[in-house]
Amino acid sequence: MWEDKKVGVLLGGLSAERDISLLSGNAILSALKEKGYNACSIDVDKDVAKRLLTDRIDVAFIALHGRWGEDGTIQGMLEIMGIPYTGSGVLASALAMNKYMTKIILMFHRLQTPDFQVFQAENYLKDRPGEKILSGYPLVVKPVSEGSTIGISIVKNEGQLKKAIKEAFRFNDQIIIEEFIDGPEITVGILNGSPLPVIEIVPKSGFYDYESKYTSGMTEYIFPARLANEQLSEIQNTALKAYKALGCHGAARVDMILDVKGNANILEINTIPGMTKTSLLPKAAYHAGYDFNTLVQEMLESARLHSQ
Ligand SMILES: Nc1ncnc2c1ncn2[C@@H]1O[C@H](COP(=O)(O)OP(=O)(O)O)[C@@H](O)[C@H]1O
Ligand SMILES: [Mg+2]
Repeated sequence: MWEDKKVGVLLGGLSAERDISLLSGNAILSALKEKGYNACSIDVDKDVAKRLLTDRIDVAFIALHGRWGEDGTIQGMLEIMGIPYTGSGVLASALAMNKYMTKIILMFHRLQTPDFQVFQAENYLKDRPGEKILSGYPLVVKPVSEGSTIGISIVKNEGQLKKAIKEAFRFNDQIIIEEFIDGPEITVGILNGSPLPVIEIVPKSGFYDYESKYTSGMTEYIFPARLANEQLSEIQNTALKAYKALGCHGAARVDMILDVKGNANILEINTIPGMTKTSLLPKAAYHAGYDFNTLVQEMLESARLHSQ
């Protein structure tokens, strides 16, 4: 559909995940070129609207992660400008970017997510979270909207709590404190409404933090995940329900942890998953028969406007 049109890959951006976005965006740009598309890159800054007009793109491939890219803001601008774009629309993007809102939607749909409390920067001391948080340690403290494990701490005792809360508030004025789920971590990519094979994630450090995510050899990715077939399809089904509950479109990735009972607890939904050649979504797509370039093409072909 976009063969004779101009594709703009939006990359870089202003969020804490800028570096990862540059990697994703450049990998996507090469793939599009190899597939024969007329594609250019647009590094997103405050002048992005001007660039979109002067570069006269027909469709946008959004390769931005985090704020001002994955959160519905750029999607809203593209809607107004009438430029179709890849991935989820404004509302699903905004909901998925906010871990608190995501949890509310998941709970409404009776989908399991770790127990949590939410705190606002201006009143967290008054709320004295340390005295009444959930049922005890360990806990996970995270800003409501960031990615790549930025600002997230696993807290093993009360002594570590204050520092973790302060760190999370550096990124957002709202944080969540979540029960720690001790079990295998898994992720399920969804491509245009179908779940991809489940991948198990085993970080060597035990915590899938920024370093474990982006340093090669720091994490083992196990495929197929070491679970019974029945459980695997149940997990894929749960991931798809979460994708639909938020109203996602195109590609997305659902991060989960299995609890002792084997139930999948949903941590978050990424509406613009990492797209470097070694990222999780391309890995899962590969096991479903899509090479990287074909995956990129599939994602592009699902680009659309949502508020028509
Ligand atoms: N409730 C939890 N229990 C155990 N580990 C968690 C929990 N929440 C987050 N983590 C760990 O932190 C990582 C990042 O958390 P996640 O909620 O997916 O945020 P991000 O948007 O930064 O990826 C997870 O991949 C997992 O390793
Ligand atoms: Mg995650």
